Amino acid sequence: MTKPEHGFGIVGCGVIAPFHAKAIGDLPGARLVAVADTSPERALDLASDFGAEAVDVNELLVRSDIDVVCVCVPSGLHAAIGVRAAAAGKHVVVEKPIEVTLEAADRLITACNEGGVTLSVISQHRWDSGVQALKELVDSGKLGRLLLGDAIVKWYRTQQYYESGDWRGTWKLDGGGALMNQGVHYVDLLQWVMGPVERVFARTRTSAHPDIEVEDIALAVLSFASGAVGILESSTAVYPGLSERLEVTGTGGTAIVEAGELKVRELKEEKGETAPYGGKAPASNDGKRGAAAAANPADISYIGHREQLRDVLHAIGSGGKPAIDGAEARKALEIILAVYESARSGRDVALPLAVV
Ligand SMILES: NC(=O)c1ccc[n+]([C@@H]2O[C@H](COP(=O)([O-])OP(=O)(O)OC[C@H]3O[C@@H](n4cnc5c(N)ncnc54)[C@H](O)[C@@H]3O)[C@@H](O)[C@H]2O)c1
Repeated sequence: MTKPEHGFGIVGCGVIAPFHAKAIGDLPGARLVAVADTSPERALDLASDFGAEAVDVNELLVRSDIDVVCVCVPSGLHAAIGVRAAAAGKHVVVEKPIEVTLEAADRLITACNEGGVTLSVISQHRWDSGVQALKELVDSGKLGRLLLGDAIVKWYRTQQYYESGDWRGTWKLDGGGALMNQGVHYVDLLQWVMGPVERVFARTRTSAHPDIEVEDIALAVLSFASGAVGILESSTAVYPGLSERLEVTGTGGTAIVEAGELKVRELKEEKGETAPYGGKAPASNDGKRGAAAAANPADISYIGHREQLRDVLHAIGSGGKPAIDGAEARKALEIILAVYESARSGRDVALPLAVV
């Protein structure tokens, strides 16, 4: 058998790990070699499902037949594992968010730079067809000058979800709640489409899950460097979990992505001006949607992970940058931390944040 171009290892064999395993299995020239978890049973389960070896983390990190490590451990452990992988000369793919503090994120970015390895942070919804179409509308100038950008993630998680792992809902290892864990996807998309955020004013609440440390509702008003403004809304308290939305308006019109699909595309240059009082009927919306992860974290597709890993392999092969490198993923983390700081202090918070 010819040696595959890239051997993958996965550290952390919980909910998200099989999505990486499936994505790797789909990519030509990639093979899942080994998986590791502090729970040997979880590692064995994943290994037997995907024809890989279950090994100890220390062994996985030094194997010569592994050159890319997917870090799928709790968020506050991403740097701890990622730094070791980079020091061992492995390329690193970490799950979102990059980490839970800027200090830890920077430690990971520095280790990958010093190790001369590629770092990419998962934000798989960038490959959703509707998100790609929205980005194209903005970059081509069809939406005109950006005015307003909103990200709305009204999902639902039960108390049992938070009890399903002792790291969930903790400041130390989850790093936050509805915004840091669930909303982070759409914070990344919003900043990708709208550009840098300059100021944040926020409120958070822990409303429906009294036994968690972190918020289950986060609201923020954002000021973008471009002069545009917008709203972030992220919750795990909204029964039964609704489709997440990204709504962008520019001087040229409005586009809305819902559950990854472009649902509204209203361009003035195509449809003309409205009547003096507005009054154009909204674009049709058939109401159909994929369940996405609105109510079940495992109810997602692995296709976005596959496309992102394809991008990572291309970056490794070409010596270029992956679409979402450490610096890019750090932007969403910084916005989220600014939201938390504003909610705590009751004040407007300016970015960049100091690294403490
Ligand atoms: N991209 C997405 O859509 C998505 C979805 C779910 C989770 N995630 C992210 O993936 C990460 C993991 O989430 P999950 O839901 O799979 O969690 P999980 O609790 O289901 O799995 C984490 C696994 O890591 C193992 N682990 C913990 N510490 C370890 C260590 N030091 N070494 C080796 N293994 C260790 C645990 O035993 C557990 O099996 C989080 O950062 C989360 O934000 C991303």
